Amino acid sequence: MFLETLLLLITIIVGYYWYIYKKAHYYFESKGVKYLRGVPFFGNLMNNLLRRTHLWEDYDVVYKAFPNERYVGFTDGVCPGIFIRDPEIIKHVTVKEFDHFVNNKDLFPEGEESILKNSLVMLKDEKWRKMKAALSPAFTASKMREMVPLMIEISHNIVEYLKEHLTEDIDLDDLMSRYSNDVIASAAFGLQINSLKERDNIFFKAGKDVFNFSLFQSIRMIFSDHFPSLSKKLGFTVIPKSTSEFFRTLIASTVDYRIKNKVERRDMIQLLIQLSTEWTETELAAQLFVFFVAGFETTGNTLINCIHELALNPHIQDILYEELKAFKETKGNLVYENIGELKYLDCVLNETMRKWSAAIFVDRICTKPYVLPPPREGGKPCQLKPGEVIYNAVNSIHMDPKYYEEPEKFIPERFLDENKHKIKPFTFMPFGVGPRYCIGSRFALMEMKILLFRLMLNFKVLKCAKTLDPIKMSPVGFNMNIWGGSWVKFQARKA
Ligand code: HEM
Repeated sequence: MFLETLLLLITIIVGYYWYIYKKAHYYFESKGVKYLRGVPFFGNLMNNLLRRTHLWEDYDVVYKAFPNERYVGFTDGVCPGIFIRDPEIIKHVTVKEFDHFVNNKDLFPEGEESILKNSLVMLKDEKWRKMKAALSPAFTASKMREMVPLMIEISHNIVEYLKEHLTEDIDLDDLMSRYSNDVIASAAFGLQINSLKERDNIFFKAGKDVFNFSLFQSIRMIFSDHFPSLSKKLGFTVIPKSTSEFFRTLIASTVDYRIKNKVERRDMIQLLIQLSTEWTETELAAQLFVFFVAGFETTGNTLINCIHELALNPHIQDILYEELKAFKETKGNLVYENIGELKYLDCVLNETMRKWSAAIFVDRICTKPYVLPPPREGGKPCQLKPGEVIYNAVNSIHMDPKYYEEPEKFIPERFLDENKHKIKPFTFMPFGVGPRYCIGSRFALMEMKILLFRLMLNFKVLKCAKTLDPIKMSPVGFNMNIWGGSWVKFQARKA
């Protein structure tokens, strides 16, 4: 009896996935869109889900399979979507016809009440518009100016730490996540933390918990994606409940303390206190949480990949050092007003974000019926219905030789003023595009430039025995993490 029941169950599950698999193929065929068949249950993401490749590599296989198509089909697990390869169409769906594609795809399964659900990234339609307008004052030029001394202070902690560890192989993942943790803790939450000294501070640990995607968590996420109501009943969440609770309590107690004691500080929490008559406490907590989540991994990760590339490309490091040294000699200190003069530093960061974009793709949900132009000459236009998903192929476009010669090479000169005209519009999108553009881009660039300025003036970055060359991405996590971690040595420069 048990065996029969088990067989019946297996047949139902296999039958169900076979049906979903075929349905996805039918979806693309009915729209006249080319696609790779993928595998039942995994769609086109099998290698990543089995932890053989980085998520981006699975997307890139589909991108490269159809070099002449403007868009192709992509199946994320069981969910089919249209993967847009053509920059001109990306311009239309993200900017010109934005009102047809206002919302992002839900990151978390239907029903999950995570703190992220109310955040700007996940908010929809009018609520998103209102919240984006309300939060924008936190990122104006004058607010950014106020952040500079705070970032300089934290970068000083990093330099001092490295001076004491000159003979060691340095784990960049750890060091950079401590820097970005301390910056966001101070800028958003008004907390003064030195994670290099207080190594196990709970703020840092809570941040790590959000991103430490264990295999168990990945399986839970797939399960929740496939069986949303069951996982809701079972109380599954993708962000650990303890982490959500930690942030909720922290935010509520800080707001409460500041109001009661009339304490004012020039940070993001202060702005939210001013907004507290219009929004609920949960909604406001979600915004701070997303600043933390979005600011912690993305900037930390870009810094890691940048420093790693500099270790692999000493000639580029020399050019950068010359620029920074000349700047220091003539201008002295870095302030908000003169940071834009560091042109080569800007090129180095842009080139890092081209090769290792934190956004592998940028997705959107169709909110009003829309007709895409034909996928190829002579093809038929593709009708999109509300609820259908599109993915804009950010990183694959960044790595397409059609747009960037020798894309595997790290060449910051591509972004020099005299070469910028060669970059086709909508082929460089590390912070996304259109009205959903990253709200923290200016903050992130400043944070990264300040640290790189101080690091490169004080040290030469060298390869060590553990430095991966060439770089290969780890299959774990959404971000572009280097396989086995990123390790380098810092050598003091003569004063
Ligand atoms: C190198 C660092 C960063 C990168 C590469 C990055 C990239 C992105 C990308 C690609 C998007 C999606 C844009 C789109 O859908 O078109 C985004 C959205 C967002 N980012 Fe960033 N980001 C970075 C740092 C930050 C920081 C430091 C913060 C906050 C302090 C932040 C907050 C946000 C928020 C709130 C959104 C949602 C915007 C919306 O939906 O309207 N990001 N970011």
